[in-house]
Amino acid sequence: MSVLVTGGLGYIGSHTCVELMNSGVEVVVVDNLYNCKKSSYDRIKALVGKDFKFYECDIRDAEGLNEIFDKENISSVIHFAGLKAVGESVAKPLEYFDNNVNGTLVLLDVMRKHGCKKIVFSSSATVYGMNNVSPLTEDMEVGGVTNPYGRTKYMIECILKDLYTSDDEWSIVLLRYFNPIGAHKSGTMGEDPNGIPNNLMPYITQVAIGKREHLNVWGDDYDTPDGTGVRDYIHVVDLALGHLKAVEKAEKENGLFIYNLGTGVGYSVLDVVKAFEKASGQDIPYVIGPRRAGDIATCYSDPSKALNELGWKAERGIEEMCEDSWRWQSTNPNGYPD
Ligand code: NAD
Ligand code: UFG
Repeated sequence: MSVLVTGGLGYIGSHTCVELMNSGVEVVVVDNLYNCKKSSYDRIKALVGKDFKFYECDIRDAEGLNEIFDKENISSVIHFAGLKAVGESVAKPLEYFDNNVNGTLVLLDVMRKHGCKKIVFSSSATVYGMNNVSPLTEDMEVGGVTNPYGRTKYMIECILKDLYTSDDEWSIVLLRYFNPIGAHKSGTMGEDPNGIPNNLMPYITQVAIGKREHLNVWGDDYDTPDGTGVRDYIHVVDLALGHLKAVEKAEKENGLFIYNLGTGVGYSVLDVVKAFEKASGQDIPYVIGPRRAGDIATCYSDPSKALNELGWKAERGIEEMCEDSWRWQSTNPNGYPD
């Protein structure tokens, strides 16, 4: 029996494939290579020391997915495939709804036709919106999202909840990620954004290797200890291990389960800059800029539900996240090879 991993060559998917295979789980990957390089596949193989199936296929291609389900013995799906850039989603809402929402509908229909009713979905803390107060718990109201990307996550959560209401043979795990950073300890896998990074850590690492002059800190007048935004950064390997627990849960039990995957600790932008400088020995010059539209002051999780029900807890601290991000960036200044 295999786990189908959609978007499995991307940042979080690739780290999850490594942890799944290291635990003896068979993996089949589907990715359309829109936001990753094929060499990510070679890096995963090299790390786990064995081959696995990869299909270059778009999740909106029902025929292609059907063939994969016909050929492979798939017991459950971890669904990472999606577009994720908040700003781009404002400019291209139709593309985001088509890729993320329509893609998920096609996938779910193919799964149902093949009697595969177990899915772990990549949701986001963004579904908590602007109004909930941290620490965020899974029972808080969701949906006050401010951009099309966030809306796709919220809509997919609604679709999956409705699906479970219609048929309780499904096992659905919604994982709400906080801010994944870090990289594999080997330095051979990490985050490889296209163009100018939107997110904090890849921007910092590009300043550190000299690709960018300075970091722009988006606002220092928030109601936080140093005025800069506070987030719950989580090491991508901890996040990957959370998926292992989630898929084990889905394999064992029917139901609709929702978990935060975070550390429960908030760090400000300047905390991250300092931690990175210490871990890397590099200076990170920064300039304070205006607030970024749509940002909130503080966002961190209460991760206790995942501990109580999955036995999962993030183990890696901010120093390790920074060290590993730096090892990846400094040894792969141009990311994955073409
Ligand atoms: P990523 O872009 O690195 O990985 C996504 C992968 O999906 C890419 O390899 C891309 O080529 C593939 N893909 C996209 N559309 C596809 C399609 N239609 N068919 C097949 N493959 C497709 O992103 P990531 O950071 O690894 O994120 C994975 C998931 O987690 C996404 O759904 C994202 O929205 C969600 N998420 C990410 C973060 C974050 O900060 N990285 C936070 C919360 C949630
Ligand atoms: N920041 C800067 N300068 C930058 C980039 C970010 O100061 O160049 C700040 C932001 O203002 C924020 C913090 O660093 O205070 C973190 O910003 P990120 O862009 O790294 O992360 P966000 O919390 O804004 O967004 C992330 C994901 C989204 C997801 C959201 C909520 O990128 O996909 O978490 O889960 F929706």
